[in-house]
Amino acid sequence: MPEPIELKLEHRMDLPDQEDLLDRMAQGVISTPMDRPEGPLKVSGTASYADEDHPPGTAYGWFVRANIAKGWVTGLNTKELQAMPGVLAVIRDDRMIRNPAQGGDAKSPHQGPAEIFYKGQPIALVVAETFEQARDAGLAARADYKDSSHKAVILPAQAKYEEPRSKQFSQGNLDRAMKKAAFSVDVEYDTPSMSHAAMEPHAAVAWWEDGRLTLRGSYQMLNSNAQELADALGVNVRKVRILSRYVGGGFGSKLGIGHEGVGAAIAAQKLGRPVAIALHRRQVFEATHRRSETRQRVRLCCDADGHLTGIGHEAWVSNLPGEDFSEPVTQATSFTWAGENREIGHYIGRLNLTGAGSMRAPGEAVGVPVTDAAMDELAEAAGIDPVEFRLRNIPETDPSTGKPFSSNRLADCIRIGAERFGWSERPRVPGSRREGEWLIGFGMSAIIRVNMLGDSTARVTLRPDGTALVETDMTDIGTGSYSVLTQIAAEMLGLPPERVTTVLGDSDLPPSIGSGGSRGAASSGSSVMLAARALRGKLAERMGCDEEELTLKDGTVIAGNRQRELTEVLAGDSLQGTGTIRKGKAEDGHRQSSWGAEFCEVAVSSITGEVHVRRLSGVFAAGRILNAKTARSQCMGGMIFGIGQALHEEVFHDARDGSFMNRDLAEYHIPVNLDVPQMDIELLMDDRDPFANPMQAKGIGELALCGTAGAIVNAIANATGHRFRSFPVTLDKVL
Ligand code: MOS
Repeated sequence: MPEPIELKLEHRMDLPDQEDLLDRMAQGVISTPMDRPEGPLKVSGTASYADEDHPPGTAYGWFVRANIAKGWVTGLNTKELQAMPGVLAVIRDDRMIRNPAQGGDAKSPHQGPAEIFYKGQPIALVVAETFEQARDAGLAARADYKDSSHKAVILPAQAKYEEPRSKQFSQGNLDRAMKKAAFSVDVEYDTPSMSHAAMEPHAAVAWWEDGRLTLRGSYQMLNSNAQELADALGVNVRKVRILSRYVGGGFGSKLGIGHEGVGAAIAAQKLGRPVAIALHRRQVFEATHRRSETRQRVRLCCDADGHLTGIGHEAWVSNLPGEDFSEPVTQATSFTWAGENREIGHYIGRLNLTGAGSMRAPGEAVGVPVTDAAMDELAEAAGIDPVEFRLRNIPETDPSTGKPFSSNRLADCIRIGAERFGWSERPRVPGSRREGEWLIGFGMSAIIRVNMLGDSTARVTLRPDGTALVETDMTDIGTGSYSVLTQIAAEMLGLPPERVTTVLGDSDLPPSIGSGGSRGAASSGSSVMLAARALRGKLAERMGCDEEELTLKDGTVIAGNRQRELTEVLAGDSLQGTGTIRKGKAEDGHRQSSWGAEFCEVAVSSITGEVHVRRLSGVFAAGRILNAKTARSQCMGGMIFGIGQALHEEVFHDARDGSFMNRDLAEYHIPVNLDVPQMDIELLMDDRDPFANPMQAKGIGELALCGTAGAIVNAIANATGHRFRSFPVTLDKVL
């Protein structure tokens, strides 16, 4: 094969996109509900996940974990463990037992006592010939501690709270607005500690060849994960390759390199053979991130016409001492609703409890349901229909900054959703509709999730045979990356999708932002689009026309009245385009968000207190929809997540030491088929956001979750006449 002809296109998003290039394309594959190209591999069990297909000679690791909440490990019965059958090594090394979110820094292998921050923290790794032998020895481990405390200090009153300055916001005088208001509410809600509960447990298999590490794991952001791993190991990032071809769910729990990744890498180096570590489900619960519990106070007030005059939102969350992250509960509160007086407070309590990190839609996932439930309470107090009340309070511009919205389709989503759902049939008087033992109620919520862009690069190669190869280190965590990136390249290059192969999940490929923060598809997609655009430029040159005059369709190249086969134009050459999208100033001047509205009907048993979600319907606007099927699936997944948040999901911590009392999928309840109704989902296919990126697409991965639980508790209030302000609304609370 001859050397490819290399082309490059880099674009910084400084100005809004005026071209709407994808709309000019002729292939007609973008936005269609195309099936996942990797779907057959997944349903036939041949897609290989992190803990499958171990290389020959693989040894197995099992983490020994602390059973105190705070203190120091001074010793371990290492000799005893080393004598157990099959045991190859007992490794104590600070680099793998630190909480990965604290970031690794290269230290020499740990010699002295190691500090414990939470119960369940890994303190050593036992490696053996088989998984069973490693587990057997791991469970026989006994550690010595000093200065140990079993106190996790989980009672909010006892915690020490920090007030990060950047997260406090004040505008006008809320206290005065509350006093003067015709109607007001001042309410407290709480949401529990939660677990991501991804189907695929965290797992990694590592091997070293010629001083270079290959790690097959389950991660979301390979470019930064490779850097984190290199930092933890104290090696140059070029010595590290991470493969995550398929990821069985992440939801944020796989955003950073985990104990299993660092542990497998260190053990494989030490033993000179591949080492695999798969976390047990309990270890996933206790030793990977959770979502912080929250306590939230919401104050809302309005005039006699139902126009908001003030909004207060204060949130108390927790994390380990020294952690930067804290659940950004109030993220959407500054811009969603009108009101000139605004008070936002954010407080972090420091607890010796499994670290809190990003979980699907950090912030809005727990903040929007609460502010929206409070909006419902105020609508009721003011005697205004909840739909009408919300429509009256959609601001013209971001009320906290005065900046315009890049696009705001919230009102459309609410109106269309109300119509589709049959909102006019809502019981006017709470607790008034009954079917036998069942109390029936309707509720709705606005759906909000901020939109972001991340620097991303992709390579697209047009091969002499007229097929294309798309390559980037982007991951597909079940979201549809393989589908949308294939479609974007196919659309831009005028190829049927079968002629495009997309390769992802390899940190050796051009770096993308990865999967996180609902920005993966828009960011990596834009880089693929730019790479393909560079190729179009070359094809236009060969046709002797401008790129704008070029039409590519079904493997033919058309310029004016001339039409040639793509393979002819390529004339035996490979064209390789590299596209890079960078964040720029376009987002500075505008508030960017994806929008939606959800509507819900519940039936609440007056005998058992159980809540059935009978209908759940959502309308969403997220700019250009790249694949109608995978986008819809994302929304469906978000709404199901929201059902769990409203009715089922809750980690119970032992108040003495922070222990997880429920730490598997039998006791940490997530919605099952019977909990989930047929869902009605509408996407506003005509939506575009020119400020977002060259595709004019926005994030949809986390969007649908951001409010669902509000719609459900609002429906429960309509059914029962009672407000439940503690999530999840389990039957013991209802009775
Ligand atoms: Mo998401 S919590 O950014 O995976």
